[in-house]
Amino acid sequence: MTLEESLADLLSQKEPVVRAFYDRFLKDVPEAVRLFEGVDLKQQSLMLTMGLIVVEAHSKGDFPSIQHYLHVLGDRHREWGIPRELFPRFRDCLLETLCDWHGADWSDGLAKAWASAIDRAVQTMLEGYEGDFPF
Ligand code: HEM
Repeated sequence: MTLEESLADLLSQKEPVVRAFYDRFLKDVPEAVRLFEGVDLKQQSLMLTMGLIVVEAHSKGDFPSIQHYLHVLGDRHREWGIPRELFPRFRDCLLETLCDWHGADWSDGLAKAWASAIDRAVQTMLEGYEGDFPF
């Protein structure tokens, strides 16, 4: 299964697959719990699903509008007080969630494709930590 096919599968579900990610992340990374106080996780799961469309598109090329969006998103994460150090743990939990959900369709190749797509998006978000990026 390719990255594109994996994303299409995720998008074919009305209930966001990544809802399970937040349960896993908040259990495995207790220091993140306070960051999500008052955040509606169902709504958040839908936002992250849409975020994965951006992650996948950003892995394919340099689109100025996507780059700008990720800079703004990074800037906002900094404003929300999200420590940079939590990004690798966020990625790892997300990969574990996708692995569980895809089951037999998961592979080393797909894991690598998602990991490098997420890493590239995170790198751009973290550039957003360095400056002021209004919408
Ligand atoms: C690949 C990395 C990430 C992506 C693509 C991503 C994506 C998103 C998106 C799309 C939103 C909604 C933005 C909005 O409401 O305008 C969001 C919000 C949020 N993210 Fe992330 N995120 C990432 C990493 C992280 C990490 C590492 C943390 C914390 C450990 C985190 C915590 C949050 C919180 C707490 C909010 C909600 C803030 C609020 O509504 O008050 N995110 N994220």
